[in-house]
Amino acid sequence: MPDTTSMKARLLAKIGDRSAVTAVIGLGYVGLPLAMEFCEAGFHVIGYDVTQRVVDLLMSGKSHIQDVPAAQVAAHVKSGKFVATTDESALSRADTVSIAVPTPLAKTRDPDMSYVIAAADAVARRAHPGMLIVLESTTYPGTTRDVMEPRLEKLGLVIGTDVFLAFSPERVDPGNPKWHTKNTPKVLGGITPACTEAAAALYGTCIDQIVRVSSPEAAELTKLLENTFRSVNIGLVNEMAIVCDRLGVDVWEVIDAAATKPFGFMKFTPGPGIGGHCIPLDPHYLAWKMRTLNYKTRFIDLASEINSAMPDLVVTKVARALNDDRKAVRGSRVLVLGVAYKKDIDDMRESPALDVIRLLEEHGAEVTYHDPHVAKYTEDGRSRVSVALTDDVLSAADAVVIVTDHSSVDYARLVAKTSLVIDTRNALAKTAKSRARIVSLTPTAPHA
Ligand SMILES: NC(=O)c1ccc[n+]([C@@H]2O[C@H](COP(=O)([O-])OP(=O)(O)OC[C@H]3O[C@@H](n4cnc5c(N)ncnc54)[C@H](O)[C@@H]3O)[C@@H](O)[C@H]2O)c1
Repeated sequence: MPDTTSMKARLLAKIGDRSAVTAVIGLGYVGLPLAMEFCEAGFHVIGYDVTQRVVDLLMSGKSHIQDVPAAQVAAHVKSGKFVATTDESALSRADTVSIAVPTPLAKTRDPDMSYVIAAADAVARRAHPGMLIVLESTTYPGTTRDVMEPRLEKLGLVIGTDVFLAFSPERVDPGNPKWHTKNTPKVLGGITPACTEAAAALYGTCIDQIVRVSSPEAAELTKLLENTFRSVNIGLVNEMAIVCDRLGVDVWEVIDAAATKPFGFMKFTPGPGIGGHCIPLDPHYLAWKMRTLNYKTRFIDLASEINSAMPDLVVTKVARALNDDRKAVRGSRVLVLGVAYKKDIDDMRESPALDVIRLLEEHGAEVTYHDPHVAKYTEDGRSRVSVALTDDVLSAADAVVIVTDHSSVDYARLVAKTSLVIDTRNALAKTAKSRARIVSLTPTAPHA
């Protein structure tokens, strides 16, 4: 029978003097920055990932995540502080394990928990007394208690005395120059107060501010509230764009004017739809959980309905604009500008550009794309390559659709060289009008 007081005390001491070995499961957008922060804090870090390509890349001192410099990975690999591996047995050496594996949706829009379950099984095979386990993957409230806890208890380990279990949502915002893993406050909630204390001690070594909540469920729900808040507010401004379009009012002018209110208003902007691994998916984890409790989350469903209809609206705008030029969509050359889900990043998971391209092609358009951050991608088995934004490409296009407003694009040249631009992001607001006819999500007001 292990000495329970000393189990926690020993873990806290190891965290304190950095002799604890920390492990991160899943080395993607969330896990790799976290692993680097643990290294920076002075820990030895095991990065466990099932993808050999990712492990090989990291061990050769490269980075596949835009926000993590290769030099940082290379330095920690060279010093021996960071080891990436596909060998699950390495987890046996870990004192702490943070899990950051994907939580996608199944085709039915129900949670796909297979990655979390696989990671939980791996941890259970390697767990030992004195270990701290923190789930970071965004998931429905109850996951830590329902999926993680029984696997550890089955081993005869008592949570809060032998092992420590908590949930702490990741809030990483890819491409955000100001807020990153270290300076974004971290919410966490343990199964017991001792679990919260151990998790707070670990994350307190490398994250500026720790926010403790009373349970894993509160921490799980915090993340879902944050992302549902974004989804609902984006849904609201997208509906406002539809309203403004029907009323013949410039939605951007209205939003900018409303945003001058110093209190009680927060600015969100309309666009071609939502993307990324969070906003389109996370609210559905909550909606699913509530369905199991016989409650329908109406705000979530409505926002999702409006946001997922935006690519259709964009394609309707393209079709009408081509029609004004006496052209059919079928056979028209349409250049999609920007396929990443938001500006200045290379992540195109769930990007609305994929829907815009698919719908345009279903209507018979010949679609190409340019994205300074996405040189190529494969979707449904079909590979595409970004075309260079040459004068010839611009003048040959019947229409250019700005889906993502990357900063590095020369918009003045775009409007000078092409004939028709459908601007879904208000990217051309500050560009002097020249040759191109510009169609926005709503009519645009003349500048006051
Ligand atoms: N990307 C974001 O902006 C973001 C922000 C906040 C929270 N999250 C959440 O964090 C979690 C991870 O997201 P991500 O964007 O980092 O995912 P990702 O796809 O970038 O990375 C996940 C990694 O986990 C690995 N993996 C999958 N199954 C595994 C297993 N069983 N064992 C070990 N490794 C495994 C994959 O190979 C991959 O490298 C998700 O729940 C997501 O919702 C993501």
